[in-house]
Amino acid sequence: MNIRRAVPVLVIFLFCWIPMAISQIEMEKKDVDTIRNPTPPNETSQDRGRELFMSRCVVCHGMEGRGDGPHSESLGVPPWDFTQDITDVTDGDLFNGIKNGGQFLWMPPFGLILMDDQIWDVINYLRLLEKGGN
Ligand code: HEC
Repeated sequence: MNIRRAVPVLVIFLFCWIPMAISQIEMEKKDVDTIRNPTPPNETSQDRGRELFMSRCVVCHGMEGRGDGPHSESLGVPPWDFTQDITDVTDGDLFNGIKNGGQFLWMPPFGLILMDDQIWDVINYLRLLEKGGN
């Protein structure tokens, strides 16, 4: 297929895909309350979660999850402090925030690079940070 023919196909594809992707995210947000954590918060899961946290989250959220990572100063909004901010937040809400990104664009949608299982491991680790563990 030559470039001239490919362009309209690409445009049509984008016009269909963008609203579909948005409605997908909206749908998932609506269903947040029904999301249950399928992974028991045991040491094995928390160890996996810690490893992911160290490689993916520390730059912004900091080593102990206090929202003070090396990158945090340059963001438009402060990253959440997991020792303070998640007591009243359900696992479903955390899952949605991590998978689809935060309320503000500074928190990236990790659903693009992490599997759901990995997100649950991270959440089990965040619950450990919340209690002052590490
Ligand atoms: C580029 C910096 C950055 C990285 C990397 C990052 N975060 Fe965040 N995160 C933020 C900022 C800033 C906020 C607060 C603003 C917001 O909620 O959008 C936030 C908010 C959150 C929230 C609350 C979302 C909401 O609004 O519901 C959760 C949960 C979270 N981060 C978890 C994580 C986890 C887990 C990782 C690693 C897998 C991670 N973050 C990596 C910057 C980051």
